[in-house]
Amino acid sequence: MSLTVIVLAAGAGTRMRSARPKVLHAIGGRSLLAHVVGAARALSPDQLTVVVGHGRDEVSAHLAAVDDAARPVVQQQQRGTGDAVRVALAAGAPTTGTVLVMAGDSPLLSSSTLAALVAARERDSAAVTVLTAVVPDPTGYGRIVRAAAAAAAAAADLGPLVGIVEQREATPAQLAVTEINSGVYAFDGAALPGLLAPLGSDNAAGEVYLTDTVAAAVAAGKRVTALRTPDPLEVEGVNDRVQLAGLGAELNRRTVTAWMRAGVTVVDPATTWIDVDVRLAADCTLLPNTQLHGATTVDVGATVGPDTTLDGVRVGAGASVVRTHGSGAVVGPDATVGPFAYLRPGTALGVGGKIGTFVETKNVQIGDGSKIPHLTYAGDATIGVGSNIGASSVFVNYDGVHKHRTMIGDHCRTGSDTMFVAPVSVGDGAYTGAGTVVRRDVPPGALAINVAPQRNLDGWVGRYRPGTAAASAAANTRDRSGQPDGGRPDGGGPDGSATAVP
Ligand code: UD1
Ligand code: CA
Repeated sequence: MSLTVIVLAAGAGTRMRSARPKVLHAIGGRSLLAHVVGAARALSPDQLTVVVGHGRDEVSAHLAAVDDAARPVVQQQQRGTGDAVRVALAAGAPTTGTVLVMAGDSPLLSSSTLAALVAARERDSAAVTVLTAVVPDPTGYGRIVRAAAAAAAAAADLGPLVGIVEQREATPAQLAVTEINSGVYAFDGAALPGLLAPLGSDNAAGEVYLTDTVAAAVAAGKRVTALRTPDPLEVEGVNDRVQLAGLGAELNRRTVTAWMRAGVTVVDPATTWIDVDVRLAADCTLLPNTQLHGATTVDVGATVGPDTTLDGVRVGAGASVVRTHGSGAVVGPDATVGPFAYLRPGTALGVGGKIGTFVETKNVQIGDGSKIPHLTYAGDATIGVGSNIGASSVFVNYDGVHKHRTMIGDHCRTGSDTMFVAPVSVGDGAYTGAGTVVRRDVPPGALAINVAPQRNLDGWVGRYRPGTAAASAAANTRDRSGQPDGGRPDGGGPDGSATAVP
């Protein structure tokens, strides 16, 4: 039987108090709309229509990005959920087979529940089958009204459905009903236009309620059934930011649990956040306070965390990433990163390589076994294999107008505090001395140095900083030894001399 899906996403989402349309708010790394459209798409419908209105340009553009086969249809004025479905049909949504109508704000709905609802309607040959749930607090939801026991506690009641009554119109007895309308319905397409036709807006909200199709079907003597989901959270809608956070946490619990069952060690599930599009291999380990976003992947045996946030980062097998913030980067197998590293987009670290402590990298390819261990900025560079970049180095890539690249060869040893003033290259096997400012290319195998000779101005502290702790410490030492440098056996200078190098 053919299947049409209509997603209702035109509402303002007033309770979000947001400039952004409600369905574009995200949990688990995907917008509410992307969750819903993704679950619907898994049913392979013949057509998928999304009714847009509030923020329609933004919502349509987002829809095209997440599902370019989905068709946006504009509801000019938000006259209610019933009107939204009318608009979809007027815009050509088919009325053959089953028409599945769902709200755009229920992000936990699973495709299996949707498939079960469609199957239930087709099995029952019902005009409409409503997805319902029994919830602890039904406030705000439409209540399911059943014939047998309208006044009784309805949780256990499975009498025939006679209607759905909204919170605002419900009697006290109906308000006590805990079986709620999920806002998801499977309609007999052929019957749907006839069920919508008589609907008015004579109600507390002045809107055309889609929920009134149930009573319309009953009045017309058509078959109406319900499918009760055992998982009320699946049907919870996001109306405000409290619900957004609540469902975000629930989605995360489900995602983290699924990965643990698949063989991932998660030391602290409560502080581990994993977006739905993240992919993890068995036997990787996530330490506390780790957030994995976007298309991040972690390969077998790798360890991430603690206190690490990765967005679109690929972590290779056996690698370790500790206390790191990274995006758009690749960490090779058996490589190590952190603690306290900042990986920016375009960073690619080779097999067994290292990006160490207080290191920031951007747009840099680091060859296998190469290391940037401490206190360094490496941007716009290519580093060969087996090279070591000394502590406190800067790849000086920006001349104030343009960015330039630095090329470092294989098996180089660059000294601490080297400034690579790009564009510049360091040949294979070359060295640089500590404190070198590399402004000219270094040939393979050369040592680049440009240090100025050091001068020690004897007695300078005593003359120019009298009365300071430094001055008295120096004076005490001089008094004890009778020599200006305290008579240390190494003489105080690199060449063993106690006096200034001329
Ligand atoms: C609706 C149901 C309620 C159900 C609840 C489940 C109605 C009248 N009530 O209430 O029975 O328990 O969902 O979450 O349907 N929309 C449009 N155009 C409009 C109005 C709404 O596209 O003119 C869209 C919204 O963007 C939203 C969905 O329809 O995605 C539901 O609208 P919302 O205002 O959230 O309805 P609820 O008050 O939650
Ligand atoms: Ca809602």
